[in-house]
Amino acid sequence: MSISDIDLTHLPQHIAIIMDGNGRWAKERGLERMYGHQAGADAVRRIVETTGKLQIPYLTLYAFSTENWNRPRTEVDALMTLLVSAIQNELDNLMQNQVRLNVIGNVDDLPEACQQELIAAIHKTSQNKGLTLTLALSYSGRWEITRMVTQIAQLVENGQLAAKDITPEKIAATLNTFPLPDPDILIRTGGESRISNFLLWQIAYTELFFVDTKWPDFAENDLLKIILQFQNRERRFGKTSEQIKSC
Ligand code: FPP
Repeated sequence: MSISDIDLTHLPQHIAIIMDGNGRWAKERGLERMYGHQAGADAVRRIVETTGKLQIPYLTLYAFSTENWNRPRTEVDALMTLLVSAIQNELDNLMQNQVRLNVIGNVDDLPEACQQELIAAIHKTSQNKGLTLTLALSYSGRWEITRMVTQIAQLVENGQLAAKDITPEKIAATLNTFPLPDPDILIRTGGESRISNFLLWQIAYTELFFVDTKWPDFAENDLLKIILQFQNRERRFGKTSEQIKSC
């Protein structure tokens, strides 16, 4: 399978990924879980490259959920350290490839060093014109929806918004992902078939793909296969097949 098998005129605009299976990948090899996360960071680099090569404009990666704070302290600390070093090591690469870094989630929860590194990298890459790479960090869909409801309630309380003007568009524009488009494809690696609190509002009409491959093994070929399957699915958005075919 290669890029030439893909219809380049019918590409997804936004791919979101739940990168699962790092810990099991390491365990299978008799290694500490952190080796799995390190190999996971290499997989991130590969997939960012492929997505950029295909000129897909948006890639969103679930790198650390709100619930991941409940992992053992040593793993949380090591993940934060890995994040800082990955940003430092990849910054030149991101610049060369015109990647714009973005973050969603409660960044204030992250260690100071991590916040600083992220903010500097987001600023440095802000004028890049290629892929927008969004990292979901200390993120969960319920956290994001709660934040959105709080902000909208505040506007109503202040008399700046009438309850009748709360529309799906207003809600979307108040989410942390705004102005990203909703994902066309959501991939979860690692063999589990669940959403785990990721992009709950945004995936209403997203095509879901659950694959057994563990994240550190996820390669260009796996992504191309999923894009090919996506291109063969009919997205009806609530309409009938006949309606879709006639336009
Ligand atoms: C889930 O696998 C993975 C995570 C919680 C962390 C994801 C982090 C990376 C891929 C590395 C760094 C990322 C960037 C953006 C540089 P798991 O630990 O739940 O695996 P398991 O289900 O096999 O235990």
